[in-house]
Amino acid sequence: MENTIERIYADAMDALASATDVDGVNELSIQYLGRKGRVTHFLRNISSLPAEERPLAGKRANEIKRSLENEFKKAEERLTSSTQTVTDRIDVSLPGRVPEKGSLHPITQITNRICNIFSQMGFDVVEGPEVETDYYNFEALNIPKNHPARDMQDTFYVSDNVVLRTHTSPTQPRVMEKRKPPVRIIAPGKVYRCDSDLTHTPMFHQVEGLLVDRHVSFSDLKGTLAAFVHQMFDEETTLRFRPSFFPFTEPSAEVDIRCVICRGKGCRVCSHTGWLEVLGSGMVHPAVFENVGYDTSQYTGFAFGMGVERIAMLKYGIDDIRRYFDNDYRFLSQF
Ligand code: FA5
Ligand code: MG
Repeated sequence: MENTIERIYADAMDALASATDVDGVNELSIQYLGRKGRVTHFLRNISSLPAEERPLAGKRANEIKRSLENEFKKAEERLTSSTQTVTDRIDVSLPGRVPEKGSLHPITQITNRICNIFSQMGFDVVEGPEVETDYYNFEALNIPKNHPARDMQDTFYVSDNVVLRTHTSPTQPRVMEKRKPPVRIIAPGKVYRCDSDLTHTPMFHQVEGLLVDRHVSFSDLKGTLAAFVHQMFDEETTLRFRPSFFPFTEPSAEVDIRCVICRGKGCRVCSHTGWLEVLGSGMVHPAVFENVGYDTSQYTGFAFGMGVERIAMLKYGIDDIRRYFDNDYRFLSQF
């Protein structure tokens, strides 16, 4: 008889070990401890055992009953809390979390586009330093010390002879010192000026262009820039050349683009003029060629420097240049 109650106990523990949910455990509880359960049945029949076996068998059967009650309760608790993990902590009806995608900054995208267009026309892409000597930023470009043209650009000085470059034009003499003509380069990069409003930021980007060869004329400059604007925007976009002055070009012109936002009607981006200045340009001044040892009787050339943010403002219809540098994710993620 003792064997029988031990057998029942072992069966119950085996069955419990393979129970996977609360219903399964309840089922076992009924099978073993219920009114017609195996343990209950055993206890009820103790009176039919030989008198000397009864006390021990009854004691053991009651131990097993309490132990099983305890085990079933523990199993039920364990299975209830793991069911809760799935159903209560995770709301399966919620939409999934989409990982955030990064992208290139709009200014980087526009710079790459500008470089691609000029690369296709045969221009090499080069880069120059942002911390520049006074010589390359000014002197080599025909802007001597105390020349009034230095006031045109509000310079950040690092020391007497070192500046944060105010434009990408110093790449012109740097490249010409190293290469013999013909030269055809563009030079993208950051430039710095003490300047800040709706259309000016203290750090902005320019792309410099320089082409030197025999028989280069102003119409080559016009044709090249018109081709660029038509590829960057569309064939309908018009540009105009306005006479201007730069010490390193002669003649000089600034180029405006018919405002792409309002198509010339006047809006905030173009300050209600219908036009937005995007670049300065001109024929390379002979004094610049002399500084780098180019033969001015053989060679002529044109140069330009365009503002990347201005192009990006027109391309994307952004009316405040400072948005590009606020690092607002909601703004940047649109590009
Ligand atoms: C220059 O910087 C000359 N180096 C351009 C040049 C190159 C002329 C080669 C002749 C030959 P300017 O200061 O006008 O010129 O600037 C050129 C362009 O940079 C402007 O047309 C404008 O589009 C942009 N720009 C100028 N200042 C700012 C600023 N603070 N913020 C954003 N864009 C600017
Ligand atoms: Mg200007």
